[in-house]
Amino acid sequence: MPKSINIAVDGYSSTGKSTLAKDLAAALGYRYVDSGAMYRGVTLYALKNGLIKNGRIAENLADYLEDMHLEFIFNRERGASDLHLNGEDVEEEIRELEVAKYVSDVASISEVRKFLVKAQQKMAGKKEVVMDGRDIGTVVMPDAELKIFVTARQAVRTSRRHGELIRRGKDVTKQEVEANLMQRDLIDSTREDSPLMQAEDARLLDNSELSLKEQLEIGLNWAKETLATT
Ligand code: DC
Repeated sequence: MPKSINIAVDGYSSTGKSTLAKDLAAALGYRYVDSGAMYRGVTLYALKNGLIKNGRIAENLADYLEDMHLEFIFNRERGASDLHLNGEDVEEEIRELEVAKYVSDVASISEVRKFLVKAQQKMAGKKEVVMDGRDIGTVVMPDAELKIFVTARQAVRTSRRHGELIRRGKDVTKQEVEANLMQRDLIDSTREDSPLMQAEDARLLDNSELSLKEQLEIGLNWAKETLATT
């Protein structure tokens, strides 16, 4: 008898894990949660409220967490949820390179992680959730019935991310994008608190040579297999 499951999708920056997670959620009729957007939301708040000055993050950033109300609200036009920060739709703003520059350092602060992991676990409690991030299979949903760890070659990831930013009208070079990706991966995988790593029971998906349709097909097959055996 098939039950409802949770799916954790983790991986390095710009591997296409959000696309996979979003597509899987749509195909299964599950809820998609972009945990990275929440770390970006905290970073945006810090930038807007003078908690990041001259490239330095204020030591008391965590004191402001309770003032940050983060919420996902469905956007009909986009057919996806937008992150709202204290009532304002910040979905566009959190994707700026300025936010990307600081988000990994903000995500290394244990109090920030504790605060967001608690909110993410609440969302996962009802099941039928596909959540993507860095610590979903290891910390947020260690009991997720299906865990996928996504990778892709560095050059492929840089091209994809650069293309995405150019399409959105941003003026960035490939070199800037590559430097940011490499820096974030290094911080994300070497931080002390819940570093990015493949959960022991996660399935590895290298999508360097796969189309979106092909990667979805693989993910869906794994989900069906998991549903049949859960
Ligand atoms: O998935 P993303 O690139 O939007 O994530 C932005 C940053 O947030 C990423 O560099 C690391 C951090 N992050 C994290 O530490 N844990 C998560 N579960 C999701 C994101």
